[in-house]
Amino acid sequence: MKMDPRLCWLPFMGPACEASDPFAMAQAELALGLASLEGVQARVSLLPGRGDGYEIKKEQDTYLVQGGEKGALYGVYHLLLSLHAGECPLTKWNEPAFPLRMLNHWDNMTGKVERGYAGDSFFYQDNRFDYDPARIRQYGRMLASVGINAISINNVNVHAPADRLVTDQLLPEVKKIADILRPFGVRLIIAVDYALPVTMGLKTADPLDPAVQAFWKKQCDEIYACVPDLLGFLVKADSEFRPGPYMYKRDHAQGANMLARALKPHRGMLIWRCFVYNCRQDWRDHSIDRPKAAYENYAWLDGQFDDNVILQVKNGPYDFQVREPVSPLFYAMEKTEKAIEFQLAQEYTGHQIDLYYMAPMWKEVMDDLRVMPKHICAVTNLGRDENWTGHHLAQANLYAYGRLCWLGREMDGKGEARRWIALTFGQHFPEADRLLSMLMDSREIYEKYNAPLGLCWMVTPHTHYGPDPEGYEFALWGTFHRANHQAVGIDRTEKGTGYACQYPEDMAKMYQDTDTCPEKLLLFFHRLRYDFKMKDGRTLLQRIYDDHFEGAQGAERLLSDWEKMQPHLPEAIYAHSLDRFRRQVKNAHDWRDIINTYFYRFTGIADEKGRKIYD
Ligand code: GCU
Repeated sequence: MKMDPRLCWLPFMGPACEASDPFAMAQAELALGLASLEGVQARVSLLPGRGDGYEIKKEQDTYLVQGGEKGALYGVYHLLLSLHAGECPLTKWNEPAFPLRMLNHWDNMTGKVERGYAGDSFFYQDNRFDYDPARIRQYGRMLASVGINAISINNVNVHAPADRLVTDQLLPEVKKIADILRPFGVRLIIAVDYALPVTMGLKTADPLDPAVQAFWKKQCDEIYACVPDLLGFLVKADSEFRPGPYMYKRDHAQGANMLARALKPHRGMLIWRCFVYNCRQDWRDHSIDRPKAAYENYAWLDGQFDDNVILQVKNGPYDFQVREPVSPLFYAMEKTEKAIEFQLAQEYTGHQIDLYYMAPMWKEVMDDLRVMPKHICAVTNLGRDENWTGHHLAQANLYAYGRLCWLGREMDGKGEARRWIALTFGQHFPEADRLLSMLMDSREIYEKYNAPLGLCWMVTPHTHYGPDPEGYEFALWGTFHRANHQAVGIDRTEKGTGYACQYPEDMAKMYQDTDTCPEKLLLFFHRLRYDFKMKDGRTLLQRIYDDHFEGAQGAERLLSDWEKMQPHLPEAIYAHSLDRFRRQVKNAHDWRDIINTYFYRFTGIADEKGRKIYD
């Protein structure tokens, strides 16, 4: 098989085109794409004022793509990808589920990516911009090919000199990136430091101070003179030591609206993260429960945010753990525009060493949401590595995320995995079914050898790879499971911390009753004794043991499946991923042995099946 490992799911396209705007790009990319498709004829035409949508018809022997300013480009990729995947490309008028389909880079200007597992940043190095324009164009193409239309280009934890991205010191550099990505329909967002006014000489960053307001107004005037289509700002405030309005005894509506008003004349948006919690929590204090934090900080502010503010809420109430319920904030704040934030970077899900295909998880979240948030966002899993994502197969997450952005609830994780395989490895790849099963099984396998049943935080502190059951237990981050010799978990019902009561009544009822609470979330909501009887009659303890043995076996199966595929894979890709599957097996064994031992030592109860548990 001939395949350029740098080229993600578009290996047939070669280097991306240069063009002045998305429609010109659509024409250029269509011409280029057709060169790889013998005997196919196609045209693209613009339907002005019709935005992101498109349709594809066939007239005699020619495909006709018709779409709006960006829609024409999306339509061209739809045509090319469908033909390469062996699907019929014809489609009725097709529009995305979310108007803003965003990615957040957590790239620092040093070049290091926070929680990055695919090498350094492809934007920066040594505290300055340092990139290959051709690679940024390839990136733009990848984004546009799945309809992603905005990226934030720096870490939400804004470290100097990235705080100056919004000043004349670095704006000309931002403009260059914006210019490269604009023809792909991608707009930029800048993560800003709330304390910038102070760093730049003012006495305060208090949002109600007129000098602060004037500061941001002037800054926005400068920014938009340079990058007129900047989407807006992204802000992490009063979170994990970042500055914010609480420092001045202002609430987050006051804090956000001040910035929103500076952006408003330029039609800019203010994206405000709700990842706000007490990260200096005394473990002896049972009155604080971290998952309650986002709701407590924001729900009461509904209706007080300006109309160009978007609250960005992580999918779960904790922090991208392997299994969490949907954040209760999505069921509240009806008058407030929200974006749901996922994490493609596999911070808690195996660092792009372990295989973890996320689409089934997203699908579950979508199914649990009653009202869709208006927008969608994800932390990227990308870096300078040749294959973009560290693990070659982690590309499937970026691809599927784009499809989720476009299709929303209608996305079919399995169908998208199949399509990604066909595009990446070829339509007639003989191992497609095996690879598809690997991707589809990967989440459950990982979950089984990880922390059990929604318990969370048994991971090694700081790095977040590998097991350490008490690593976070006595720390200050509010990340407890409170296991002892009798029981494990936190009671989050009304008799406990009351977290479950943040949900609508029927959901609260469902979660609070161990009979109706989804099994996979039992230990998220309940504190249970080890002899608690699960639905199938096993004890909780036995279930924990079984899951860990099964998860580790699953990881071994992934390795042996990959080995079977060797004859059908390009050698470089085979060898690269083989190394990752071997490391995954080692990791899964560690999790199995350390977690099982942890519970065995507490309880003194051996595995019913007599398997070896280390002690
Ligand atoms: C997690 C992650 C941090 C990140 C934070 C955030 O806590 O570990 O690295 O900064 O999330 O989302 O802001």
